[in-house]
Amino acid sequence: MEKIKKIVLAYSGGLDTSVILHWLKEKYGAEVITFTADLGQGEILEKIKKKAEKTGALRAYIKDLKEEFAKNYVLPALKAGALYEGRYPLATALARPLIAKELVKIAEKEGAEAIAHGCTGKGNDQVRFEITARAINPQIKIIAPVREWEFTSREEEIEYAKVNKIPIEVEKSSPYSIDRNLWGISIECGSLENPWQEPPRDSFQITQNPEDSPSKPTYLEIEFNKGVPVAINKKNYPLVKLIEILNRIGGENGVGRLDMVENRLVGIKSREVYEAPAAVILHKAHQELESLTLDRETLHFKPLISNKYAELVYNGLWYSPLREAMDSFIAVTQRWVTGSIKVKLLKGVCQVVGRKSPYSLYDAKLATYTSEDIFDQKAAPGFIKIWGLPITTLAKIRREK
Ligand code: ARG
Repeated sequence: MEKIKKIVLAYSGGLDTSVILHWLKEKYGAEVITFTADLGQGEILEKIKKKAEKTGALRAYIKDLKEEFAKNYVLPALKAGALYEGRYPLATALARPLIAKELVKIAEKEGAEAIAHGCTGKGNDQVRFEITARAINPQIKIIAPVREWEFTSREEEIEYAKVNKIPIEVEKSSPYSIDRNLWGISIECGSLENPWQEPPRDSFQITQNPEDSPSKPTYLEIEFNKGVPVAINKKNYPLVKLIEILNRIGGENGVGRLDMVENRLVGIKSREVYEAPAAVILHKAHQELESLTLDRETLHFKPLISNKYAELVYNGLWYSPLREAMDSFIAVTQRWVTGSIKVKLLKGVCQVVGRKSPYSLYDAKLATYTSEDIFDQKAAPGFIKIWGLPITTLAKIRREK
């Protein structure tokens, strides 16, 4: 195998990336530098750093990226209304470009010619990592050990770890493959590979079973300022904190579970289970506020953007001119998306039950059926006559024939 001097590895501290660290040193004769980001996955980074060093990393970088992730990746996707195939809020997909950007930054600083990741050759994540990395540095070499190495099972990796004295925690092993961050959790594998099988209780990580959740509803008032969620129940929070709170309260009420078969970019349909309480609540509330504040034409046009945006993010094209252009469109629409949405959380359901905005386009005097009504009912017949003219004309001509 060719020799590489220095490699920067995206390191989670799990079995795969621990084995990869050692394997890269062995196969490429390389010095390995690890990078681990805190994206709200609920792990202690200092511990992961120690583990990397114990496993033989030359240096182990850790960085809290929660705020950058929330502000520059999650928020644009929320404003865009980006839900892949109408449902998946893209937690995993949004994190990849940020991690890749940091990897390249470290590689440049360290003079490393390559970066490495632990993705398989069948998934979306490899595509997201690699396209982003090359968007930032087209020269960078990318190594994906899982696509090329000799191991074909977890057991073989564990064996390799034992032989090479790589510290691993086998007791932590679960039948599922789990990727977690602030915006949600993606759960795959194990019995979930059978799409007919209901997700077992133990596959869920942060949401209460709806059956066991409180039987009294929880009401939340969520306030937005120009499309940005800023307060819960009239109390202001920075974005990361606000998302954390909604994950907790939503989770307690069993809100945010998604179970779908989705289309991966590489052509495979896969069964995916997600938990994303904050994302589900915020997307719902944000959409509702748009219903109230956007004019009809813009509102009806927006889903085209939402779908395309979700597709780009899912397919690894975060750093693309189209995404930037869509952000500009979205920014214009969000000028009016200010106001409050009242949601009711109960037994796994998040329901919007109230909405208000200083820019509300709802005009009570037009909508009312009381004596307050100012709608000019006499204008309706003329409107219908002209609006329906093509149909009336067609009916007349066809009838005559
Ligand atoms: N299907 C989701 C996606 O492509 C989740 C991927 C989960 N990734 C993982 N490494 N477990 O975004």
